Amino acid sequence: MSTLKRPTLKGPTASSQPKDGPSPTCMSINGVSYALPNDPRTTLLDFLHQNLALFGTKKGCDHGQCGACTVLVEGERINACLVFAFQLRGKAITTIEGIAKNDELHPLQSAFVKRDAFQCGYCTSGQICSSVALQKELADKTPSAVTFSENYSAREDISERMSGNLCRCGAYPNIVDAIEDVIALEPQ
Ligand code: FES
Ligand code: FES
Repeated sequence: MSTLKRPTLKGPTASSQPKDGPSPTCMSINGVSYALPNDPRTTLLDFLHQNLALFGTKKGCDHGQCGACTVLVEGERINACLVFAFQLRGKAITTIEGIAKNDELHPLQSAFVKRDAFQCGYCTSGQICSSVALQKELADKTPSAVTFSENYSAREDISERMSGNLCRCGAYPNIVDAIEDVIALEPQ
């Protein structure tokens, strides 16, 4: 009977060691420059996991349905499972590992803790990256699907903007509470 061979996880390899200075064959992840993977079929999500051992970004569906893999590219959110790493050459990527500054949590991270906005936590890194991008969308006055409705509430707008991030534990009300706390602190 044949047996399945367990794949071995690799830490940073020669091709993924931090490099000094910008390069057309590199991308920046959380402020550190890395060479692109040799295999052009490598998704950003697999690159983070298999080459850089950055496991904070989660793999849920692996085909763009759940938002667990949300990261920021130049401040905008994307699903890391839907983009090849080589497409991001020269770009600045922020993962959940880069959201806090030194030992200080991002206000949204603190709000998620305060509002108990998670249960198992599997979706949480994606939820937080998404909500960080949501702040920028509001600051840039980027419309959502409800922006042109009559009498929509801030909660409806937040829910709509966060609709790409699923939570199997159903922590949605607390997630919206947490985001609303932070947005309410900011001048709009
Ligand atoms: Fe990427 Fe689900 S793992 S959207
Ligand atoms: Fe469990 Fe969201 S907290 S999936």
